[in-house]
Amino acid sequence: MQNLKRDYKIAPSILSADFARLGEEADAVLAAGGDMIHFDVMDNHYVPNLTFGPMVCKALRKYGIKAPIDVHLMVEPVDDLIEQFAEAGASYITFHPEASKHVDRSLQLIENAGCKAGLVLNPASSLELVKYSLERLDMLLLMSVNPGFGGQKFIPSTLDKLRAAREMIDASGKDIRLEVDGGINLETLHSVAEAGADTFVAGSAIFNAADYREVIGAMRAQLAEI
Ligand code: DX5
Ligand code: ZN
Repeated sequence: MQNLKRDYKIAPSILSADFARLGEEADAVLAAGGDMIHFDVMDNHYVPNLTFGPMVCKALRKYGIKAPIDVHLMVEPVDDLIEQFAEAGASYITFHPEASKHVDRSLQLIENAGCKAGLVLNPASSLELVKYSLERLDMLLLMSVNPGFGGQKFIPSTLDKLRAAREMIDASGKDIRLEVDGGINLETLHSVAEAGADTFVAGSAIFNAADYREVIGAMRAQLAEI
C-alpha cells in the first residue's frame, strides 16, 4: 500500500461513555491514547435525541481535561450555542449547514470566538454544500451514519464521498482535517483511512470495549500500516 503519511487523530465520542462518571471517562480515553474528545450535542429538534450542552463542556475543562474538545453541534439554530461553547472551552466547533440560515456568518462566529471551525455533512448531503466555504474551514466532518445515535452501522457510500472530499481538500491547498463519524471500529477504520479520512470519531467501539488502551492501540496499529 502507498504510505499516505497523514497525521491521524482518534477522537473518542463520549456519547457512549458512562455519563455519571464523565470526567473520569474522558481522562481514561485520553490516557489510553485518544487525541481529542468528541462532544456530541443533540437538541431533540435537529436530531431526535437529547444530550448535553455548554455547561457540561465547561465542567470537563474545570475537571482538568486539557486535550482538544471537538464539539459536534446537532442543533438548530446554531449561532447562540457557538458563542456559549466557545466560552465553555471548545476547541473545534462543527455544525450541519442545513441547521444554519447563514452558514458563512456562523463560520465567522466560530473563528471570531477563537475556535476552529467545521462543517458536517449528513450521509445524503452533497459535498457541494461546503464547496464555497473551504476558505473558512479547519475541519470537514462526513457522517457515516444518520446523526442522532451511537452504535449504528457504517454506511458504505461514505467511502466514495471521502475520496471526493479528500480531492477537494487537497486541491484547495488548505490545512483542513477530514473527519469521519459513525460506525467506525476495527472493521471499518482501515477503509475510511485509505479513502482519505485523517480524524476518526469512535464512540461504541471504544467505550464498549473492556480495555480502552487495547482498542485504541489496535486502531493505531492499523493506521500505521496504511
Ligand atoms: C452520532 C454521533 C457520533 C456517535 C458515533 O450522531 O455524531 O459521534 O457518537 O457513535 P458510534 O461510534 O458508536 O457509531
Ligand atoms: Zn459526532
